[in-house]
Amino acid sequence: MTACIVGWAHTPFGKLADETVESLVVRVTNVALADAGIAAKDVDEIVLGHFNAGFAAQDFTASLVLQASPDLRFKRATRVENACATGSAAVHQGLNAIAARSARIVLVVGVEQMTTTSAADIGRNLLKASYVRDEADIDGGFAGIFGQIASLYFQRWGDQSDALAKIAAKNHKNGVGNPYAQLRKDFGYDFCRSESDKNPRVAGPLKRTDCSPVSDGAAALVLADVETALALDKAIVFRAAAHVQDFLPMARRDVLKFEGCALAWQRALAQAGVALKDLSFAEVHDCFTIAELIEYEAMGLVPQGQGARAIDEGLVAKDGALPINPSGGLKAKGHPIGATGVSMHALAAMQLSGRAGDMQIKNARLGGIFNMGGTAVANYVSILERLR
Ligand code: COA
Repeated sequence: MTACIVGWAHTPFGKLADETVESLVVRVTNVALADAGIAAKDVDEIVLGHFNAGFAAQDFTASLVLQASPDLRFKRATRVENACATGSAAVHQGLNAIAARSARIVLVVGVEQMTTTSAADIGRNLLKASYVRDEADIDGGFAGIFGQIASLYFQRWGDQSDALAKIAAKNHKNGVGNPYAQLRKDFGYDFCRSESDKNPRVAGPLKRTDCSPVSDGAAALVLADVETALALDKAIVFRAAAHVQDFLPMARRDVLKFEGCALAWQRALAQAGVALKDLSFAEVHDCFTIAELIEYEAMGLVPQGQGARAIDEGLVAKDGALPINPSGGLKAKGHPIGATGVSMHALAAMQLSGRAGDMQIKNARLGGIFNMGGTAVANYVSILERLR
């Protein structure tokens, strides 16, 4: 136990036409510092998670955080990127700085603005997170890639359309309680299960309701070493933080196994000295419903090929044995790439501190987070617990 989350900030996710990458970064920076009760001058290090890859003209964005306060000038600031796990890459880099004792207080910001880009360019930008040499010609952007994964899964384990619709319906229902969510509507199982004008097929067997939306948004965390954290108002400690990076080409892996995800969970649970059943909830990376289904298997909730059981038997419902995505997940909340992992940590901290409002899981004690970049290429698991 080396570091804690001591403050956080979260913008609403969605189409934020009046915002820019800079304005989003500045907003969450100031709110997170105020929430933590930390002055800008006391920050030792800044880490910004921003994928970009063509979404914004402005690259080289680490110093945009300094726009929030003149007191941030001359601090160490770095932008990190690890595809859709960019946010968690920033969080884990902050943890490393604290573990190395090169920082006492780290400000972590995650941001993305996607909706100002045309649909064709959104697809092209996201496909830069595939193995471009072999995989970037696929139709439908990243949905095309996960559409292929879903088709393969259906070939190996049978048609899972019912299970995918149940996952979508669960996450949309949970998302109604999330004030930051992009889609706060309980679409219901029947709507998610049926192809229609309002729910067209996007790629392979995936329909619109199987996909996370295109989003703008930002989130921020203040991290502090445990000693510093214990003198502050809130302290949500990292019991574990595991990062596992796999081969980039899908052809080099059994892409239905999410082996990097499985290993990251195993390492994190061992590090924390707990079992999966000890978790009160988990926020996991449902960029597409098929991803959440495979993650049930990879995290060890059900055996391989039986992901559907987790949703059919109610294990992952908000009142189930292990509630998955009580926030509504990426599906309802939105998925502004660089912000997503930071958002997952902020939402888990809200749960553990009893500040999650309508999302609250009763007696939440231990929370798990799984954030993934690409097709289970970058895999980050964090396990959090409330200290105070
Ligand atoms: N789930 C549910 N509803 C969605 C939605 C989604 N993912 N995306 C958009 N909608 C809704 C909109 O709110 C809108 O509703 P309204 O008519 O009531 O206002 C309607 O669908 C049309 O929105 P639009 O933006 O025109 O949809 P679209 O068909 O252009 O885009 C997707 C839908 C699924 C193609 C797009 O959201 C997408 O590409 N998602 C994947 C993003 C991605 O790959 N991220 C990286 C993951 S690794």
